[in-house]
Amino acid sequence: MPTGEPANLEGLFDAGDGLPESLPLDPMPTLAAWLEEAWKRRDEPNPNAIALATVDVEGRPSARIVLCKSIVADPGYIVFYTNYESRKGRELAANPNAAAVFHWDHADLQARIVGPVVRSPAGESDAYYASRELAKRLGAHASDQSRPIGSRQEMIEKVGETVAGLGVDLDALAGAGDMQIPRPAHWGGFRLWAREVELWVGSGSRIHDRARWTRELTPEGEGFNAGAWSASRLQP
Ligand SMILES: Cc1cc2nc3c(=O)[nH]c(=O)nc-3n(C[C@H](O)[C@H](O)[C@H](O)COP(=O)(O)O)c2cc1C
Repeated sequence: MPTGEPANLEGLFDAGDGLPESLPLDPMPTLAAWLEEAWKRRDEPNPNAIALATVDVEGRPSARIVLCKSIVADPGYIVFYTNYESRKGRELAANPNAAAVFHWDHADLQARIVGPVVRSPAGESDAYYASRELAKRLGAHASDQSRPIGSRQEMIEKVGETVAGLGVDLDALAGAGDMQIPRPAHWGGFRLWAREVELWVGSGSRIHDRARWTRELTPEGEGFNAGAWSASRLQP
């Protein structure tokens, strides 16, 4: 007989298997901790992979996977690297807003970040570029990412021309020693500033837990001045 009173579901739906009841004031440290935890699981390749969505001038979306190379919890942005002339690079030049999603399947966690995107300072891109293995640095030079090419063979020849043009030592390319090559101007980092973060915790009981944080971002210098976060729990 329905009593109109909420049923006691203790043991069926555990309130304790999600985010803390009192939500953190700032979601970024939790996000950074989730990624750090995922890195510790060596059987998961690319725990830093994010689906990155951009929109073109017509407002049409496109998404692809890129690697998040850092989460800077304070002041709250994530960094990825790409070709500034690629499709995503061109879309971000026209509309500097993006959405990104992390998904850690093993841990039943998802995190979404939405906000404005700015290029990383050149010095930071230089430092990251210099840390990459030589073949990847060459690839950044050789590939006009997202532009058509006639054949795979043509692409390999283009890499060959890049190797010759930059005077790359083939021994270094084969792994014997290293050599410095300059970062191409069309390749570098982007910072996606978090204006909105959603953390999602899957629950065995299927009543998942979600919360969204939002804040104001006011342009300041090369980045933003961030207001305080405000949080709300969302129905799953
Ligand atoms: C696991 C994985 C990691 C990737 N990481 C990057 C990355 O960090 N930067 C990048 O430009 N492309 C990366 N890519 C390739 C992109 O998904 C995409 O093909 C490329 O950036 C061109 O996208 P666009 O034409 O939309 O600009 C990655 C792909 C995969 C599957």
